[in-house]
Amino acid sequence: MNKQPDICMFDMIDATGSGYKNDPRMRNVEAEMIRSHELCLKISSKKPTDPDYKSLLEELFRCEIDDSVAIVSPFYCDCGCRMTIGKNVTINKGATILSPGRVVIEDNVLIGPEVKIATVDHDLYDRHNLFHFGKVTIKENAWICIGAIICPDVTIGRNAVVAAGAVVTKDVPDDVVVGGNPARIIKKISP
Ligand SMILES: CC(C)(COP(=O)(O)OP(=O)(O)OC[C@H]1O[C@@H](n2cnc3c(N)ncnc32)[C@H](O)[C@@H]1OP(=O)(O)O)[C@@H](O)C(=O)NCCC(=O)NCCS
Repeated sequence: MNKQPDICMFDMIDATGSGYKNDPRMRNVEAEMIRSHELCLKISSKKPTDPDYKSLLEELFRCEIDDSVAIVSPFYCDCGCRMTIGKNVTINKGATILSPGRVVIEDNVLIGPEVKIATVDHDLYDRHNLFHFGKVTIKENAWICIGAIICPDVTIGRNAVVAAGAVVTKDVPDDVVVGGNPARIIKKISP
C-alpha cells in the first residue's frame, strides 16, 4: 500500500501498546476519529458507483486503493489512517471497524455484511482513562462471514473462514473454519 509518508500521527502509540486518555498524544487519535467520522458519514450516504466514492475512501485511508477493492456503503471506520487494504478485497455493507490499534486486510479477503472489528480495549479497572491497542490482521483469502466480531490483537489465518456470528477472541490458524462464541475450530479445509 502507498501510505502517505506524512501520516505519522499515530507512530508514537505502538499498535500493541497502551495510552492514557490525558496523554497529549491521544489528541491525535481524537482528531483522527473526528476526521474519519465525517468522511464515513459522507461515504455512507453515497452509492459505490458515485464518481467521488473511491476518492473519499482514499481520503479516509490516506492512501490509494486498488480498483479491484469493493467497499459497500454504509461503511464505518473510526481511524482511517490506521487501515491497510490489499488488492481484490470486498467489504460488504454495514462494516464497523474500530481501527486505532491498526487493521491490516490482505489480498483477496472477503468480509461479509455487518462484520465488526475492534482494535482497542478499555482497561478493565481504569476503563475511562486507559486504553489498550491490539492490531487485527486478516490474512490472504480469508472469508469473514456475516455478523462476525473480531476482537483486538487477533490474526485470522490465510484461507480461514470465520462463520456467521462468530466472536473471535484468539488467533485463527490458516485453512480452518471457526464458529461460535468464543470461536472454536469447526473443521479444517484444503489450502
Ligand atoms: C461457515 C459456513 C460457510 C460453513 O458452512 P458449511 O461448510 O456448509 O458447514 P456445515 O453446515 O457443514 O457445518 C459444519 C458444522 O459447523 C456448524 N456451524 C455452521 N455454521 C456455524 C456458525 N455460523 N456458527 C456456529 N457453528 C456453525 C454446524 O452446525 C455443523 O456442526 P455439526 O458438525 O455439529 O453439525 C456457514 O455455516 C456460514 O456461516 N455461512 C455464512 C454465509 C454468509 O456470511 N453469507 C453472506 C455472504 S456475503
